[in-house]
Amino acid sequence: MLSCTESLLQIWEKKPDGEVIDIADAMMPLTLKIAGLTLFSTDISDEESVFGKAFRTGFEFISYKMNNLPTEPMWAPTPRNLRFRQAVQTLDDLVFDIINKRRQNPTNNHDLLSLLLDDEIKGYFIPKGSTINICQYIVHRHPEFWDNPEKFEPDNFLPSKVNQRPKFAYFPFGAGQRICIGKSFALMEATIILVSIFQRFRLELVPQQIELDPTFTLRPKNGVKVKVWKRS
Ligand code: HEM
Repeated sequence: MLSCTESLLQIWEKKPDGEVIDIADAMMPLTLKIAGLTLFSTDISDEESVFGKAFRTGFEFISYKMNNLPTEPMWAPTPRNLRFRQAVQTLDDLVFDIINKRRQNPTNNHDLLSLLLDDEIKGYFIPKGSTINICQYIVHRHPEFWDNPEKFEPDNFLPSKVNQRPKFAYFPFGAGQRICIGKSFALMEATIILVSIFQRFRLELVPQQIELDPTFTLRPKNGVKVKVWKRS
């Protein structure tokens, strides 16, 4: 982004002071150039290029559709619709050409396309479309992120400790688009239940071997025995 903007500014540097420029005209190719480089490592900003022309046709078509209601249906073979279809075909051809070339020469250009195609994580080849499961049990006990990972250690959740860990070292409710919708509910529920119990009782863990039952959720196989003491 910076180098694209810098190239534009270098052109401006050569202009005499006070020269009038059309800033809107200048920003369009700049942002298009940045988008093309970020997505495909390809400069698509040249207005005279096939890509530039097809892009402008598509852009004009969408503006026309948004600003003139109602318009002819998409299936009608009007000159405008045909021009639009041709532009979409041109853009598709160009994008698929970029994808095919990248597949033949799989370099990681750190652009969006590289993220969408095959990947490599720490030397492991990950084919495009793979499903990756991240095991909470392991991450939540990983010595790289936790002091005394096998021990019940509430201090691990002090803000000063939390700030030292990567954000997703602890993700009991998942993360991203499908994050648990009951997260706030469950946290509030746990707080209310625990506060209600501990206001009136003290619990003491009975020494025992707790066996895990990893089914749909992780549960203790034979329960967790505690002694209950009333608080006086
Ligand atoms: C301590 C309690 C809970 C834990 C640890 C928990 C954990 C999770 C996890 C790990 C996911 C999967 C997230 C992902 O795919 O990335 C999930 C999804 C979900 N949870 Fe929870 N959950 C809890 C309580 C609740 C409650 C109380 C509700 C309902 C009131 C709930 C409703 C859901 C729903 C509907 C989804 C699916 C969300 C989606 O796929 O868009 N959960 N939960």
